[in-house]
Amino acid sequence: MGFGLAVLGSAIGLGNIWRFPYVMGEYGGAAFLLVYLLVVLIMGLPLLLGEFAAGYHTHADGVGAYEKITPERPWRWAGWPGVAAAVVILMYYPVVTAWVAQYLWLALTGDMSVPAGAAQDARFVALTHDGLAVLLAQAIVLCVATGIVAAGVVSGIERTCKVLMPLFAVLLVGLAIYGLSLPGAQQGVDFMFHADWSAVLRPETWLVALGQALFTVGIGMGVMVTYGAYLPDSHALPRIGFTVIAGDTFVGLLACLIIFPAVFSLGLAPAQGPGLAFVILPEVFERMPGGNVAAVAFFLLLLIAALASMVSLLEVPIAVLMSRHGWRRLPAALLTGSVAFLISLPVALGEGTAWLQLDGMPTLLDLADRFASYVLLPLSALAIALVVGWRWQEKAACDAAGVQGIRARRLWWTSVRWLVPVLLVIVLVSGLVTA
Ligand code: PHE
Repeated sequence: MGFGLAVLGSAIGLGNIWRFPYVMGEYGGAAFLLVYLLVVLIMGLPLLLGEFAAGYHTHADGVGAYEKITPERPWRWAGWPGVAAAVVILMYYPVVTAWVAQYLWLALTGDMSVPAGAAQDARFVALTHDGLAVLLAQAIVLCVATGIVAAGVVSGIERTCKVLMPLFAVLLVGLAIYGLSLPGAQQGVDFMFHADWSAVLRPETWLVALGQALFTVGIGMGVMVTYGAYLPDSHALPRIGFTVIAGDTFVGLLACLIIFPAVFSLGLAPAQGPGLAFVILPEVFERMPGGNVAAVAFFLLLLIAALASMVSLLEVPIAVLMSRHGWRRLPAALLTGSVAFLISLPVALGEGTAWLQLDGMPTLLDLADRFASYVLLPLSALAIALVVGWRWQEKAACDAAGVQGIRARRLWWTSVRWLVPVLLVIVLVSGLVTA
């Protein structure tokens, strides 16, 4: 149970509540949803089990696990693209989390109002431009996350997730009910279930869905390898894997039910980009009765989700330092937390100068996010599938993944060995070429 909640805590994060709705808004609503569901089930689940299995079998970190499975070059390096992805994600994840903390502070102090006549995004721009405030918030959230990982896997990560995840669930359901009671709710729901089918035919949609699936479940970053290594027994892994994917997707859908009704109740367009949750929701909260309570609840929800994910992201390099270089947990956590602070400075400060102003120019955050989600994570997933499917024995791998029954074993094995790598190459190449 603790393991399951920790994995869920890692999976559910900004990816579900901040990223999923705006990506879905940009890539065709229900059509994107369908593509996403196919991708996460056909590719995500087998890969997730592969990562769990590699960690469980070798009791090693996200890099060492693959070295133990296959000492030969280049296969032994299969874990490194994942570490690279984790580093690139750590360049902006703390910054977005810092914005969440800033909004929570605004909501708590009751100061959400924007001067009359100001632009829709005035609050967001002002907030992200305030370099000192962003840095302070970023330092605080990183200190909290570092403190949790420093306390250890069971007393830090597990215990925190056990407390936070139920609170998260209550807030989420409450807010979805609130969202559905807004005046634009019907249009919002219509948008979610009305598909623009031409999006399905564009290879880009598939690559974006793949990137979203890997990001939101947390596949291809060594997190699930690292967590799998801490599990005492593997037989529950397929069930946990499926539950995590289903739960994670469900949370993304609920987040859409919170956000899209709000978008339509203001008469705005859903394809707003990364500012969606930050620009539109506060606007709605401000106009609605009881909006301030909803604002506090929403940003608290986001903060909880982001913290539990950041904790797992930090655990990857910490596990590498501990098991490969013999570090103790506390110094490893301090070093990782400090490095995360340093590498996220450019996005924290750069966003303020670039945000929404250079038309058509991606910001640093956008670039880092796209590079991680659409290049590094798919490459890392490919490396995982190839090592698990081609450099490992079928029986050992199936045992480690806890897959039981001849049929299920065949299905999983054929998937990681053939289906997943082939699909990954097709989606990656066609997506990158056409985008
Ligand atoms: N899955 C998390 C989310 O949806 C992000 C994350 C990425 C967590 C990588 C761990 C590792 O926000």
